[in-house]
Amino acid sequence: MTEEPKGGGVSRRGFLTRVGATGGAGAMFATMGALGLAPSAEAATRVPFQPPRRSDFTLRGRGAARIAVLGAGVAGLAAAYELGKAGYDVTILEAQDRVGGRNRTLRGGDRLAEMGGDTQRIGFGKGVYMNAGPARIAQWMTTMDYCRELGVPLEVFTNSNADAYIYNQSAGMTAPVRWRTAKADVYGYISELLAKATDQGALDQRLTGTDKERLLSFLSGFGAIGGRASGFAYTGTDGRRGYTVDPGAAENAGTVLGPVPSLSDVLASGVGRSFSFEFGYSQAMLMFQPVGGMDAIPRALAKAVGAGRIRTGAQVTKITNLAGGVEIEYEREGRTRTLAADYCIATLPPHLLAKIPHNLGASVQSALGTPVPASTGKIGLEYKSRWWEDEERIYGGITNTDLDISTIWYPSHDYHAQRGLVVGYYNFGANSDAYARLTHAERLRRALDAGAKIHGDRYRQGIASSASIAWSRQQHIQGGWISWPSRGAEYRLLNQPQGNVYFSGDWLSYEIAWQHGSFESARKVVTELHQRVLKG
Ligand code: ALA
Repeated sequence: MTEEPKGGGVSRRGFLTRVGATGGAGAMFATMGALGLAPSAEAATRVPFQPPRRSDFTLRGRGAARIAVLGAGVAGLAAAYELGKAGYDVTILEAQDRVGGRNRTLRGGDRLAEMGGDTQRIGFGKGVYMNAGPARIAQWMTTMDYCRELGVPLEVFTNSNADAYIYNQSAGMTAPVRWRTAKADVYGYISELLAKATDQGALDQRLTGTDKERLLSFLSGFGAIGGRASGFAYTGTDGRRGYTVDPGAAENAGTVLGPVPSLSDVLASGVGRSFSFEFGYSQAMLMFQPVGGMDAIPRALAKAVGAGRIRTGAQVTKITNLAGGVEIEYEREGRTRTLAADYCIATLPPHLLAKIPHNLGASVQSALGTPVPASTGKIGLEYKSRWWEDEERIYGGITNTDLDISTIWYPSHDYHAQRGLVVGYYNFGANSDAYARLTHAERLRRALDAGAKIHGDRYRQGIASSASIAWSRQQHIQGGWISWPSRGAEYRLLNQPQGNVYFSGDWLSYEIAWQHGSFESARKVVTELHQRVLKG
């Protein structure tokens, strides 16, 4: 007999049991799905996309239009690529001397200029690189589909690793703790508390007797806690925390890492704050990266678009919407030039578009000025040996800290190679601004001081080369991404064509700071523009 929770009404389980009794397991499973309880066998619904095709025009007897795309970042390249499939006459104007926008991979031989700062000559060794911008792709993202279509090979990007560290200095931690240890302690103590409360009847208004037994059974495994007789005690003795001597042969059962900190100390350390990161829809493992560097994506897009259609070193100085088209004024090689087209797709960051004269009206200007640029930056530390693998057994993944470096990333590729590159900080906001104000040499010193608190003096030794990027100081970009104070009227306005001018980019999506957002926005605009052209 199914018990109902106190308080009356039909419980979900009671309802399901009745469905199961009359309709069988299949009906019950379908009903569970409708209630959001059963795992779905299918991926989430995708936004359908039908790329424009040449036959769309041949069948209708219409010609393709001329399109000016502003910006050769991921959104601009993707828009040009998709329109190119139907034979549109696309020209991309790109202010930088390279394509990709924020998708930039730094390698030995590159030069990295900064506004108001020195130019770094990147000295990384052969095969060593740093993805200065995007560095991870979730499986559900449209970016994966473009990698498939363009033949960009992928490998796993390790976004969470039980053997990476958490270190919260401000909480009084004197040494880093491995993620596995932090999780064992947090899950263990939380399970103990919840089991005690459940067993003592504190949740009787919420749980039936059967619910309680099932919850206790779950907590027993989740937290590795003792049974009722022990008061559901978390003792941390089962090996989840890690070992000081690993288990081995014969009588070597290993030595479990101890002593176990008190519940109060575990709560005070704040380590549990790090855990929710890996539950995020965009951050949960598995994640992926292109083999050899993220810039394989813009390079493949640019190749498909055709070099002849991309004008680099072309800085847009004026956007004019006309009754029958658009006129784009730009500077290139010291001369002012004009590009005439039927439509424009503007993919530059909104805070830079806001500085370009146009005739699109005051509300567009005000909307472009609404999003707030966000800072981010990274430093790459190339070491002569992969000590994090050899000495600390960390193969990929990320260390979290409340120090101003925020994170340390270990490479997810080329394990056991001679050299490797650790990202010594990837930080945001005020921390990023603080590093952005420094010279590269100062950033390096500061990042090494912080990292040494986690990895010890080893961290300062054997550095072969380093490079750092402050996205707020990158000309023609000036920010890591943007945030909308709210996705209000301004967001909606810029998601609509303004005369013959369309706007596109991750900043006009719900996945800001992801290539997915750029691809989705490009697809939306391409679809709308193509439909308009077909209608004539
Ligand atoms: N997409 C960015 C990241 O993964 C924000 O860190």
